[in-house]
Amino acid sequence: MEHFEIKKLLLISLSEGESRDVVVKGWVRTKRGNKNVAFIALNDGSTVANIQIVADLSNAVFNEDLMKTVSTGACLCVKGSLTKSMGQGQNVEVQAKEIIVYGGANPEEYPLQKKGHSLEFLREIAHLRPRTNTFGCVLRIRNAMAYALHTFYQERGFVYLHTPIITASDAEGAGEMFQVTTLDINNPPREDGAVDFSQDFFGRQANLTVSGQLEGELGALALSKIYTFGPTFRAENSNTPRHLAEFWMNEPEMAFYEIKDNMDLAEEFLKYLVKYALDNCREDLEFLCNMYDKELINRLESIVNTSFTRLTYTEAIDILKSSGQKFEYKVDWGTDLQSEHERYLVEKHFNNPVILTDYPKEIKAFYMKQNEDGKTVRAMDVLFPAIGEIIGGSQREESYEKLSQRVSELKINMHDLWWYLDTRKYGSAPHSGFGLGFERLLLFVTGMTNIRDVIPFPRYPQNAEF
Ligand code: 4AD
Ligand code: MG
Repeated sequence: MEHFEIKKLLLISLSEGESRDVVVKGWVRTKRGNKNVAFIALNDGSTVANIQIVADLSNAVFNEDLMKTVSTGACLCVKGSLTKSMGQGQNVEVQAKEIIVYGGANPEEYPLQKKGHSLEFLREIAHLRPRTNTFGCVLRIRNAMAYALHTFYQERGFVYLHTPIITASDAEGAGEMFQVTTLDINNPPREDGAVDFSQDFFGRQANLTVSGQLEGELGALALSKIYTFGPTFRAENSNTPRHLAEFWMNEPEMAFYEIKDNMDLAEEFLKYLVKYALDNCREDLEFLCNMYDKELINRLESIVNTSFTRLTYTEAIDILKSSGQKFEYKVDWGTDLQSEHERYLVEKHFNNPVILTDYPKEIKAFYMKQNEDGKTVRAMDVLFPAIGEIIGGSQREESYEKLSQRVSELKINMHDLWWYLDTRKYGSAPHSGFGLGFERLLLFVTGMTNIRDVIPFPRYPQNAEF
C-alpha cells in the first residue's frame, strides 16, 4: 500500500462507492465519536488541513486498549481505504483497517491537549509548537519565502555567496557583537593586564557576524551581482517584538548599481516575495487571516499593486514635525527615526510603503556614499506597514580617499579593515546593496505580531533553551 502525504491525499477526488487503498501517517489533532465509531483528525504537516480517519469500533482490531492510546498528540500509521466522505467539511476520508501507534502521548501530560493556547505559552514549549496549526502555517510560509528568495536572485543572474559567520570585523560599527573564543574565560592569558587574544584560537579577537555585507562587497566587485542569506547575530539587549539576537538576513550586493537601481531592486524583490506567498501559500494565509488578522490578505494584495512612496529623510522630518502628532521620542533633523515615526509615515501619512533616502551621515554606517552636501549619505530604508524598517541599504562609498577619511573620523581601526579598503584601491566601482531582515518579512507576510513567532527557535535575551 502506498504512503500518501495528507496534502496529496486530500486532492484525490473519488466518486461515490469508489475507494482506494492508502497508508497515512501523522499526529492526532483530535479524536471524537461514540461507542461504535471513532473519528480521528490526523495531520502530518504537509498542509494545515487534516484527514479524517474513521474507525469502526465493532472491528475487533480496534479494541479498547489500542484506542485508548489513540489520543491527541499520538503518532499513527493508518492503513485503510480512501472513500468519498459523506460528512461535512471534507471530500475524502479514510476508513481504517489497521492502526499502528508509533508513539502515544499521555493525555494527562501532553501540553497541547487543548486548542487555543496563547502564543506566549507556545513560546515556552517551542519544541512542540511546530505541531500547532499556527506554527505549521508559519513554518511552511517561511520555507516558501526562502525558496522564492533564491528563485528571485537566481532568475536574475545573482551568485549566492557564502559569507563567514565568524569574523573579526564589526560591519555596522555598532559594537553589538557576540564574542567567539576558546580561551578559558575564568582564567584568560593576560598581557599588561589586558586579555591576550593572540593566544586565542584565531590569534585575534573574533565574533559572530552582524552582517555579511563587507564580504559581500568583495564578491560583488568580482562577480558583479551576489547575494548572501544566512544567520546574523546582534547582542543588542532589545526586548522588542521586532528584534532577535539571531536572525536571518539576506544581503544582495551589486556592482554598477546606484541608489535608484538599488531601490528599484528592493521594491521589485519585496513584491515578488509577497506575490509568491499569495500564489503559493493560499491555504496557510487563509488560516492565519481567519485566526489572527482579517486584513492580512488585503494588505498583501495591496503591496503587490502599489508603487512605494520615495522621499528623503529631510522631507520626512518636515512631515513629522508639522504632523501635530504627539510622539514619545521627539523628532529633529539629525536624530534617528523611531519605529513610531516610521509607522506614522507609512500607516497614517502615506498609507503606503515608503523608501526613505539620504539620511544624516552621523546616524548611518561608515561605508555609505557621501552626498555632495557634506551632511547626508546615500542610505535607503524601506518602511512597511505594521513593521517599520524591513530593509536597510545604501549606495557604498567607492572613493578610497573619502572612505578612509570617514574610517579615521570614526576612529575605526584601519588595520582591521585593510582588505575592505583594498577594493577601493584596486578597480573600485560604483556599487550598492541592501539587507532584508527575513523575520521582519515573515512578520509582514504571516501577520504575526511578535518576531519570536516567525522563527522556529528564537534567540533573545535570557532565552536559548530549545
Ligand atoms: O539595517 P541593518 O542593520 O543593515 C545592515 O546590516 C546592512 N549591512 C545591510 C546592507 O546594506 N547589506 O539590517 C538590515 C535589516 C534591517 O532592515 C532589519 O530588517 C533586519 O536587518 N534587522 C533585524 N531583524 C531582526 N532582529 C534584529 N535584531 C535586527 N536588526 C536588523
Ligand atoms: Mg537599519
